Amino acid sequence: MSNLVIVGTQWGDEGKGKIVDLLAEYSDIVVRFQGGNNAGHTMVVNGEQFISHLVPSGILQKKLCIIGNGMVVDPAVLLEEIDYLTKKNVKISPEQLLISQKAHIIMPYHKAIDAAREGCTKSKKIGTTGRGIGPCYEDKAARRGIRFTELLDEDFEKTVRNIAEEKNFYLSSFHGHEKIDVDLLVNEYKAFRDRFAPYVADISVVIDNAIKTGNQVLFEGAQGTHLDIDHGTYPFVTSSNTVSGNACCGTGIGPKRIDSVIGIVKAYTTRVGEGPFPTELFDDTGEFLQKKGAEFGATTGRKRRCGWIDIVMLKNAVRLNSLTGLALTKLDVLGGLDEIRICTGYKYRDQQINDFPVSLNILGECEPLFETVPGWKEDISGIRNIGDLPENTRKYLQRIEALTETPIDLISVGPGRNETILLNNPFS
Ligand code: GDP
Ligand code: IMO
Ligand code: MG
Repeated sequence: MSNLVIVGTQWGDEGKGKIVDLLAEYSDIVVRFQGGNNAGHTMVVNGEQFISHLVPSGILQKKLCIIGNGMVVDPAVLLEEIDYLTKKNVKISPEQLLISQKAHIIMPYHKAIDAAREGCTKSKKIGTTGRGIGPCYEDKAARRGIRFTELLDEDFEKTVRNIAEEKNFYLSSFHGHEKIDVDLLVNEYKAFRDRFAPYVADISVVIDNAIKTGNQVLFEGAQGTHLDIDHGTYPFVTSSNTVSGNACCGTGIGPKRIDSVIGIVKAYTTRVGEGPFPTELFDDTGEFLQKKGAEFGATTGRKRRCGWIDIVMLKNAVRLNSLTGLALTKLDVLGGLDEIRICTGYKYRDQQINDFPVSLNILGECEPLFETVPGWKEDISGIRNIGDLPENTRKYLQRIEALTETPIDLISVGPGRNETILLNNPFS
């Protein structure tokens, strides 16, 4: 029996949804441990596309899906997502989906504060998704959050009225924003309480019992290692820990339960929002990757910035997450390029840097040092055996394995579930 964590290694959108959906086949439970509807995870099965923002990406495999305590949940978005999935004939019931009692709830004032700050010229723009993620995690840390357990409590209304008063003062006095209608909020959230009460559970107990009785669990991460609140390119990060260690805190299990950790690596790099990006391309190749990779955000529809693969980042991710293997996605997108570049280090003034710098001033000045390898012209999306890949494609894979000192367990050559070459199943 084994339990697996899946995390993004770059700045999100590496193709986690596809890989979680694929490997969920071998697990019994899929639990997401952090983030909220800032995430957009895409799955494509038999040509049909599904995008999930909150419901774990194991839902199409009919596995028990759990919203972990490390997540922040916008109940209105969760309802929309349940409706969307139901319309697509994906059954959602408390047998299929559970929500942690301890997961925090995104309130209307969180969204208003997120939008007000992003629109405020006095503060630094992060380029957030505007979903209220940061303000909700702030309240969690400030012990002013509303969790599902508070939503179900008798004194929910009193608690929320007290908090909302302070939020309205901040919104109106500092940002000149219209006040939130608290009566409306209370009624809306009481309706959510009635709707979600059957789904709320002590998920630590559920997961522990499942593991004890021989079930396998897949822990699904959102965002990516370099968006981690501690280890990412702060302050251009999200507000949660995205690294594998948070699979434990975000679900209520201990570290001894984890057997393997797969890092999802896009065959090139993308980023949405603001912040440094050493290998970013501003030329025709960048445009080629953006177009061929259809690099538009699954949540906000924003164009993703594109660049070459960055081994300095990947080695950072290997260490921060204890990666046991990599899943390399979107390899098909590189087809057609004469040559491919791999960033193996950074030049900072007259020094070479091999460890991802913490200071954004240093990172912002770093120039990538590239190794250039030959590309391939073939369309590899129909290939299902590693031996059938063009020689240059295999060389590219071998080079990434050698530089990261981590095996590639899985290769993705298209968005579809079956457009995959599984080399080593982490569940077996
Ligand atoms: P996530 O947030 O990490 O789950 O990734 P997103 O779903 O936001 O973005 C990944 C995009 O790439 C989605 O549109 C996927 O359907 C698509 N995708 C995933 N794997 C592959 C692949 O191997 N090749 C191609 N061409 N597209 C892929
Ligand atoms: P998935 O799970 C890519 C980015 C935002 C912004 C920063 C902070 O689909 O990979 P936030 O709204 O979290 O406060 O925004 O983080 N961001 C993502 N970028 N993929 C994501 O999720 C992201 N979630 C947040 O663009 O730069
Ligand atoms: Mg995404």
